[in-house]
Amino acid sequence: MTEYFDTGHHGYMEKRSADFARFVVDRIWQPELDSYNTCIELGAGIGRFTPPLVERFDRVCLIEPANAYAKVLEERFASARVTVSSDSAEQFLEDWPQDEPVLLTAFHLLHHLTLEQRQSIYAFLIRTRSHGVFVEPNPWNPLILLQVLVTPGMNFDEERQYLQLTRARMVDEIQTVGLMMQHYRKIVALPPGVTDICLSRKRDNMLRLAEGLTVFPCAASYHSYHLTSQESADREQS
Ligand SMILES: C[S@@+](CC[C@H](N)C(=O)[O-])C[C@H]1O[C@@H](n2cnc3c(N)ncnc32)[C@H](O)[C@@H]1O
Repeated sequence: MTEYFDTGHHGYMEKRSADFARFVVDRIWQPELDSYNTCIELGAGIGRFTPPLVERFDRVCLIEPANAYAKVLEERFASARVTVSSDSAEQFLEDWPQDEPVLLTAFHLLHHLTLEQRQSIYAFLIRTRSHGVFVEPNPWNPLILLQVLVTPGMNFDEERQYLQLTRARMVDEIQTVGLMMQHYRKIVALPPGVTDICLSRKRDNMLRLAEGLTVFPCAASYHSYHLTSQESADREQS
């Protein structure tokens, strides 16, 4: 089977600014995440969403099986606090030697994985009592489909699973293995390119106003899912 990371260069990942990444991470942030020292980012690509993670955590592990992308990550982020691994997410999590809870995150990864691969991520969250935050394209937003069809480096066959990965499907998948969805949010009301332009022109008011649009199912670009076990949710609250 050809894996997503075998298929070469995905140039669209280079387009967004670090301010865009910070904007997204601010929107998914919850106070309980401040209690974690370590963040593991699965499928980090070339680090489109990594800068705010490196700014917020003492220790960051970037997991990226495409060797060419892993090299870029090493050049951009490697330091005493940041490590880069070119294992697959499943392998890395299976070999993870520690038991203490971490923040496990991934941006635009879950829809590239099989159910079995996703289940290995859910099993890790349960085993280590960790908190998972996953950002996925909004399957109800028609502009995303357009973007997949017209963007060089994007390919419908590689992306199609995002259309099935609805919130209801996520809830079904995680409940079967004993996780719950602690928070869910629709984020990035305007298309990412427009959001990035607003950020570069300091039009924060416009972005705040636009957030109201996310009441419409098709308006947000992304869905964010916070997955935990009941035990970790209780620990975070105590
Ligand atoms: C759509 S890209 C997203 C990259 C980055 N998170 C971003 O948003 O720019 C998906 C990334 O996941 C990586 N990937 C694919 N299968 C993976 C797996 N089994 N474990 C870890 N990463 C994987 C790919 O190589 C690719 O870099």
